Parts: sequence; structure tokens; C-alpha cells
Amino acid sequence: MSQTGEREQWGTRIGLILAVAGNAVGLGNFLRFPVQAAQNGGGAFMIPYFVFFLILGIPLMWIEWGIGRHGGKFGHGSAPGMFDVIWKNRVAKYFGSLGLIISLVIMIYYTYIESWTLAFSFFSITQTYFDLHTFDAMRNFLYSFQGKETSAYFSSIWPSYIFMIVTFCLNFWIIYRGISKGIEKLAKIAMPMLFLFAIILAIRVLTLGTPDSANPDNNVINGLAFIWNPDFSQLGNASVWLAAAGQIFFTLSVGMGTIQAYASYLKPKDDIALSGLSTSATNEFAEVVLGGSIAIPAAVAFFGVAMTTQIAKGGAFDLGFVSMPLIFEQIPFGSFFGFIWFLLLFFAGITSSVAMGQPIIAFLEDEFKISRHKATAILAVVVLISVQFVVFFLKYGFLDEMDYWAGTFGLAVFALIETILFMWVFGADKAWKEMNEGGDIAIPKIFYYIMKYITPVVLFVIMIWWFVNDALPILVLKNVNPQNVPYIWGARILMIVLMLGLFFLIKLAWDKNKKKVI
Ligand code: ALA
Repeated sequence: MSQTGEREQWGTRIGLILAVAGNAVGLGNFLRFPVQAAQNGGGAFMIPYFVFFLILGIPLMWIEWGIGRHGGKFGHGSAPGMFDVIWKNRVAKYFGSLGLIISLVIMIYYTYIESWTLAFSFFSITQTYFDLHTFDAMRNFLYSFQGKETSAYFSSIWPSYIFMIVTFCLNFWIIYRGISKGIEKLAKIAMPMLFLFAIILAIRVLTLGTPDSANPDNNVINGLAFIWNPDFSQLGNASVWLAAAGQIFFTLSVGMGTIQAYASYLKPKDDIALSGLSTSATNEFAEVVLGGSIAIPAAVAFFGVAMTTQIAKGGAFDLGFVSMPLIFEQIPFGSFFGFIWFLLLFFAGITSSVAMGQPIIAFLEDEFKISRHKATAILAVVVLISVQFVVFFLKYGFLDEMDYWAGTFGLAVFALIETILFMWVFGADKAWKEMNEGGDIAIPKIFYYIMKYITPVVLFVIMIWWFVNDALPILVLKNVNPQNVPYIWGARILMIVLMLGLFFLIKLAWDKNKKKVI
């Protein structure tokens, strides 16, 4: 197949950069990152974090932009077609199925989490949670909203369900409108707003001083120290390194198939070298500078170091949805600040979740030649059916199971496969030429060697390490509450069914297209 010339295209360069940055900047930047940093050695976490940014994050960005733009030249916007072009082997396209399933599974649960942020921005403006003053009460509010517990606040899951439906409709409306009219337009509005809100919140937090003079140690300086003071003893701990690698994958949205899909809508000579770098840099600014200056420093200023350690141990949702609301109700204009905090998370989330739908949309459009509108309808039905399980079985670990296999382990596996295919099977020299073609900067030559040797080796080591440390115990259901076992199997069966469905569609598409060529 040659260039079709019929595929959609990005409207403007800035729109493209904002859309890819929007794809990367997500809930991970503002919720996952601060918790990871606080739990894994504070400032010392930044050492493995930046090492992996340089040897995994940036190289994978360029590799994915390269694979994506190259695939786009042949009319392919998703990994099965892209792999088929770079590796002339019948199985290549099936390896590409990972680039569909990972983004699909993440989209299914991520959209639900995103809907909580929309709900909480509404609860902030209406001051729904403003009469709850303890951690237990606020946690109970969150858990009962999520349907994990019952309480006086929410007697059923339906409020949460309604916000899920609203979020779902917004996502699919944007996807339905297409690349330049939907996704690009969203990015052009949501990304500047997101940065504005984040800067306002960071300034508000950094000027908190010592909120309670009776507790002078609870102040924002100690908050910054808590997240940034390096605890170098942690660097000998393998789990800190693995956490840093996991954060780099998730935050940059590499290993998902979404960056490749976006890049497939570039023109053959559009720059990718500088664009890949600028989107990575934008993501890191949003994560390290802004994400690191809001939730954790604010928690220390209000609750002290000991309590913040507990909160961080409770995970990203406790930090974002329990500790932050307790702060908002104590500060002037807290309802407004709460509103923009959760709206910021919502914008961060939606610019990422629409990207997660794109690989499947592109797959259906490109390989089956169906319209974007039909493809959107098919994806919407699949996501809507699947999300039911996530909503109703949340408390049984359904979402966590999907998150582990798709959002953690899967990213490393797919990243390793694409790196080997591009740098070794397609060939490092051809890949290098592809990544530099039309570039506004020349990618420093050292990255040629990093991408060819270091990135795949490190990915392999991480994957094996993860497999032995986490994946194997998770697979055999070690440390699982027996009550959750059927639900965890349910999550696995759902993912297997989706995967088999994709295999079937890939086979169908290739059989059909082969017949056409004959
Ligand atoms: N990269 C997206 C995030 O950080 C998925 O949330």
C-alpha cells in the first residue's frame, strides 16, 4: 500500500505539540508522581527518574514518533500495520496487537478515574464535602462515592455512575470529531487552562507559609524538603529504580501505542526530533515542577510530615481526593481552589484518555476502511460494556488488576518489542534516518547508541525484574483476599477476550486486504 493521502492530518504544529503533550500530561503527573517521589527516597528518587528519562523516556519518545510517522506514510495509524511495515513477517502484526490492547484497557479504567475528578470539581464548587473534617470522614466520602463502602453521603453507586457516563460521552464526542477538530481543539483549550490552574495552585501552595502557628514544623518549606530532600540510602533499593522506570513509562505515555497513533497523522517530512523533545520537556515541567509543588507540600504544611507519610502510603487517590479536600475547606476561597484542582486533573485526564482511544480508531479506519464515526461507535460500545465491570467491581480489585497488566507490566513489554523491531529488525541506520528526517534539530548521535544498545537491554532487565518481583506473585494470586479472586479472574478474562477479539480482527483485516491486492 502506498500513501493514501486520505488520512486526517494535524491542523497546526502547536496543536500537534499540545495534543501529544496532553497525551503525556495526565493524572500521573499530579497524583502518581508526588506519591512515587515521596515513597521512594524523595530527592534521591530523581536520580533514577532522570537516568530513566534519558535512557528510556526520551529514546522511546523518538522511537515511537519515528515508528508512527513511518507507519502513517503507508496508511497505518496503529501498531499492527506499523509493525507489518517495519518487519516483513506474518507474525509482526500480531505483536502489534499489544499497541491496541494496552491503550484500550488503560482507557477503560482511566476514564472512570477521570470521572471522579469531574465529580469532585463539582463537589468542590457546591461545597458538598465541606462539613467533613477528619481523614476518616473524607475517606469514607470518597469510598462511598466509589461504591467501596456505604455511608450517609452516597447510598448508592449512581452518582458515580452518572459522572462516569458524562465523562464517557465527553471523551467520545471529542474522538468522534476527529484529529484536528476534536483532539487538537481540545488540547488547544485544555492544555493552557491546565497550566494556568497548576501555576495558580503551585503559587497558592508555595505561599501557604505556616498555616497553624501552634505547629511551626508544619510548613511549606518542610513540605518541599519532604519531597525533595534526597535519601541516598534508597538508591541501593531495586524497588526504587523499578518505581522510577514505571513512572517514566506511565507519565510519558510510552509503551501504549498512543504516541505512534498521533505521529501517524504527520506529513512525511514533518519534524519529529524537536517535537518529541518538546513534548517530553513539557511533560517533565508539568510533572516535576508543578506536580511536585502542589499536593505533597500542601499536605505537609497542613498535616505534618508523619501524617503525610501515611497519606503517601495510602496512594495517589488518598493524596488527591482525601488530603486535598481537607485542605480546601480550611483555606479562603477553598471552594474555588478545589474546583480548579479537580478541573486541572480532569483536563489532564481527558487529554490523555482521548489519546488512548486513537489506536483502535485508527486501526478500524485504516485497516477496515470504515468511517471515523463508525469506528467511534464500535469503540464506544466496547468501552461502555467493559467499564461496567470496573465500576461495579472496583472494591474487589478489578481496576488494580487491569492497571497492573496494562498500565505497568504491559508498557515495558511493548516498549521492548517496538525498540527491537525498530532498532534491530528495521535497522538502526534506517530508523535513525527516519527519526531525523525533516528534523528541526539533529538528534545527538549518542542517542543512536543509547537506542540501539542501552534502551533494549535496560528494558529487558526491567521486564525480567518486574516479572520475577511482581508479575509472578500477582499472576499466582499471592497475597490476594480470597473474596477478590473471582473478580481478579474476571478482569483477566475480560482482557483475554479483548485480546482474542483483536487477534481475530487483525487476521480478518489482513485476509481481506490480501484478497484486494490479488
Ligand atoms: N501519561 C498519562 C498520565 O500521566 C497516561 O496520566
